[in-house]
Order: sequence, then structure tokens, then C-alpha cells
Amino acid sequence: MGGSILSNKQVCAFLGDDASPEVMRPTLDIIESMHLGIDFHYPAVGPDAEKATGSLFPEQSKQAIDAADATLFGSTSGHSTAALFYLRWGKQTFANVRPSQWLPGYASPMARPEGIDFVIVRENLEDLYLGLEGDLEDLAALNYYSRHARASLADLGPGKYAIKAITERGSERVIRHSFDLARRRDQKRKVTVTCKYNMLSTADGLFLETAKRVANDYPDIAFEHFIVDDFLCRMIAQPEELDVIVTPNLYGDILSDGAAGMMGGLGLAPSGCYGDDYAYFESAHGTAPDIAGQNIINPTATLLSAAMMLDYLNLREAALRLRHAVRSVYSEGRTLPRDQGGTASTDAFCEAVRSLL
Ligand code: IPM
Ligand code: MG
Repeated sequence: MGGSILSNKQVCAFLGDDASPEVMRPTLDIIESMHLGIDFHYPAVGPDAEKATGSLFPEQSKQAIDAADATLFGSTSGHSTAALFYLRWGKQTFANVRPSQWLPGYASPMARPEGIDFVIVRENLEDLYLGLEGDLEDLAALNYYSRHARASLADLGPGKYAIKAITERGSERVIRHSFDLARRRDQKRKVTVTCKYNMLSTADGLFLETAKRVANDYPDIAFEHFIVDDFLCRMIAQPEELDVIVTPNLYGDILSDGAAGMMGGLGLAPSGCYGDDYAYFESAHGTAPDIAGQNIINPTATLLSAAMMLDYLNLREAALRLRHAVRSVYSEGRTLPRDQGGTASTDAFCEAVRSLL
């Protein structure tokens, strides 16, 4: 499909669960109204797909993702998890890019939010996200001894383990992605690496050492590193010092929600996951089941994720226009969503954005 139909772009869209379709539908409508030559496809996933095909994630849906240039993914509470896992591990989208930029009109809890304009790049495929967990006793044969606990694993008694794996290849590619991004942003031209390399000197130590080695290839980009707890304090106290941050998976998951909170909440936080030859885009927030069906969920995160997708599809002017429209609605301040202190419905906010395109 990709590029074959008169060079139209092909995009798969998953509406998602709970309140997610309420932000996905108007976002897709807005993009359709921009007439960008994008063909949207809606692959089946979850119970509906199972009813029709006998499979929760049928082969055709996988093929539709493969054939598309990118995917816009609505948040899932479980129904489309199979598609999400395919988009991450199947498509090897190793760099989860999460910008945090305060805009006038965002209800930030910070005293001086003006300086918040940084990007967290989270390794997206490994670390503690391999799903390798089990009973401690299954590891007994390894005869592990903990110097820290001064005990062998067996002495700890019954319990569970989870494997944290950091690889050189997995680290290097996301770190290179981060340096390239710092170059493209051309702002502070700085990469900050953060992880727990004091306590986890072997695994997180590898992440740091890989970053130091990669940094040598980017003499034009400043490089610094902080241990993750210290980093979190700096992120909150001096966000204006930051440009591009790169970090292993779980720290990135946690830090990026914190960064979203600093600019005004998860309703504002876009996200894109990039591999070597594929990318998918989704808001960083969940499905907001508590407000589903009320037409009040903030569509900003989804709209800005869509703007990241337009950039990826080389529709840069359109991405700029969409961002500018969102920015203008906030700076005018007449049509703000509830989570930003306004009273506008989801539809009203989207209508305001559309009117400014
Ligand atoms: C995110 C989410 C997911 C994650 C969950 C839903 C598995 O929190 O995209 O940040 O932890 O990666
Ligand atoms: Mg998360």
C-alpha cells in the first residue's frame, strides 16, 4: 500500500477504548478536513475482530499495519493491546519520543512554566518491559548471591522476580536517535542521559557507557548525565536547562508522566514511537474510563500526536498549521478544556482548532 496509490500516504487508525474514540474521531476528522492526501485504514482488533474472524488480532490487521506508512493509535484498556504490542515489538519502534512543552494557556502547576521545553526519549522495547517474570525458586539453580543483601537468593524465601535487560544494541540505537533529535531541534543542542548507574552499575552502567561512546560521534552536541533520582529533582527545579533526555524504558515511562504533569497534565502530552522503518503515534494518557461518554476528555494530546505523525509523513507544513491552531486556541483562552480550567467540551475545543486551520 505505502505510497502506491498516487503517492497518497497510508495510515492505520485504532480508535481505542473508553473515552479514547471521543478524541480520536475528531482528530481524524480534522486531519481529513485538511485534505492532505492521507488514506485512513481501520484494522479490526479485539472482541469485534474475534467475532468476525475468530482472532483477537487477525493476520489482515497485522498486514494493514505493515502496509501503512504509520499508525495513529487510540489508548487501550486491553481490547487492542495485541495491536499495541505488535506496533512496539513487531515493528521494533525502539524510541518513544515524549515532548513536554508549556504553551501559554496550559494550566501548569509550576511557578515558572515558561522554560519547560524538553523531550524525553524513552527506550521502548527492553529493560523491565520484556515481561520476563516468575517465581524466585525457578532461579535457585543459578546460585545467586546478593552482596548487597548478604544473602543467597534462596535465603530470601518465596517471592517473584522480574528481569531487567539492557543491551548494547538497544541502548545505542535509542541514544543515537536522541542525539539526532537534539541536532534537528537545534535549540540547546544537548543530550542528558539518566538512569540508576550507581546502584545498577552493570545494566544501567552499560546504558551510560554506550551513551558516552555515542557522544564522541556528536562533538557539536553537549552531553551530560545524572543519576535518575537526582535528575528528577533537576527536571522539576530547573526544567529550562533541559533539551533532549534519553533513558531506559521504565524510568522513561515514569519521568514522562511527571513531565506531562509539569506542563499541565497528561491531557496535553503527545507521544511518538519510532523504529528504523516505522512509527506509530498515541497520546501518553490512558483511556480515561471515569469520564467516558461525557464529551469532556482533552483532545490536545491526540491532536499533537497527530501533528508528530504529520511531521513523520513529511507533511511538515500541515503539522505546523495544526500545532499553530492548537496553540492559538490556548493562547486565546476562550475555549479551554475542563482539565485546563475551562468549560469547553471535547467537540467545542476541536471545532475551535478546526476554525483556525
Ligand atoms: C505508556 C503506558 C504504557 C507503558 C502502559 C499502558 C503499558 O503507561 O505508554 O506510557 O507503560 O508503556
Ligand atoms: Mg506510561
